[in-house]
Amino acid sequence: MADKSVLLIIGGGIAAYKTLELIRRLKEAGIGARAILTKAGTEFVTPLSVSALSGNKAYTDMFSLTDETEMGHIQLSRSADLVVVAPATADLMAKLANGLANDLASTALLATDKPILMAPAMNVRMWNNEATKRNLKTLKNDGVLFVGPNDGEMACGEFGPGRMAEPEAILAAIQAILAVRGPLTGIKALVTAGPTYEPLDPVRFLANRSSGRQGYAIAAALAAAGAETLLVSGPVEIAPPRHVKLVRVETAREMLAACEAALPVDVAVCTAAVADWRPETAAGSKIKKTGEEPSAIKLIANPDILARLSGGVQRPTLVIGFAAETENVIANAADKRRKKGCDWIVANDVTTGVMGGERNKVHLISGSGTESWPELEKGEVAVRLAARIAAALEQAA
Ligand code: C5P
Repeated sequence: MADKSVLLIIGGGIAAYKTLELIRRLKEAGIGARAILTKAGTEFVTPLSVSALSGNKAYTDMFSLTDETEMGHIQLSRSADLVVVAPATADLMAKLANGLANDLASTALLATDKPILMAPAMNVRMWNNEATKRNLKTLKNDGVLFVGPNDGEMACGEFGPGRMAEPEAILAAIQAILAVRGPLTGIKALVTAGPTYEPLDPVRFLANRSSGRQGYAIAAALAAAGAETLLVSGPVEIAPPRHVKLVRVETAREMLAACEAALPVDVAVCTAAVADWRPETAAGSKIKKTGEEPSAIKLIANPDILARLSGGVQRPTLVIGFAAETENVIANAADKRRKKGCDWIVANDVTTGVMGGERNKVHLISGSGTESWPELEKGEVAVRLAARIAAALEQAA
């Protein structure tokens, strides 16, 4: 970590005192820190304490000419490996979610080309406000990372989520993101995600409702744990995760080709909702309306990517499939595991809006039995799965 550094943005919240402790711990961990305080932030901690602890000048005023000549605000926003916002107030979240840049902190957030980690801290009602929820969703979709908030008693006397994560948890999140060495360092991972589009003609296709969220979250979690990660994705509307190599495909056959080209890998996670069938022929030009209804579309089977990877000569050490089931979830998924020849199946019940939704309730089915996880955000499912993958690969080594 010796050459790593963070740019810390300190918003105006009572939790800012914990940020001073965070700076101290960053220093102990050998991670450099520069800090920007918002105007409100300076009401809670002083630039003097921040600069004394960090050993660097603390920046506060966007229009200070001396600051701009020493280090322009764009350069400041890019000088570190990671931007950490702690406390991330409702205001700072709203500004970044909406692209506002009217002070040094928000300008740096908008100008940075580095990952951003936010540690929110606010009153529970502010956290639960629909506007904050919208902003959180937008920021997550834009790839902003979060640690906390925690449940607990707040300085204002209320109870609930909104307490900033503790300095050690923020440090752990920072170390995980900056990790030159994570539990999956040296591991090559392949993830498929999203739907496939199977053309009928140049403008029409058969597809499904897969959003790609779970697969993108898994690719992000594997990369965050240090894996060299390739994400082969069908058409989706979400931003590619940071530090992940993305290959975009449309059809199942393109997806298979991209996966085979990526081999050998140590672990393959097939989350894509690959179309089981495709139209036997795709017309070269748009099928015209002739007044008569079109004759039946003949469908033929697509290659099964999961089964091919599981049975291939360059079989990854660990092959994981997903099973979207609407009934007999566990029994059907266990059956699928045997048929496809993969090591694990992550099974979920898709009768409850999982497809396209934010949360997931899964069962992990392996050779040694079934483990049912509680309902979690897709991001948390991904982090847990990455940890399980790391443990399994270590055992296999
Ligand atoms: O057979 P079913 O589609 O239910 O299996 C789901 C699992 O198989 C998922 O992991 C999916 O990514 C994978 N699959 C695949 N290629 C297909 C069909 C499914 O890789 N053609």
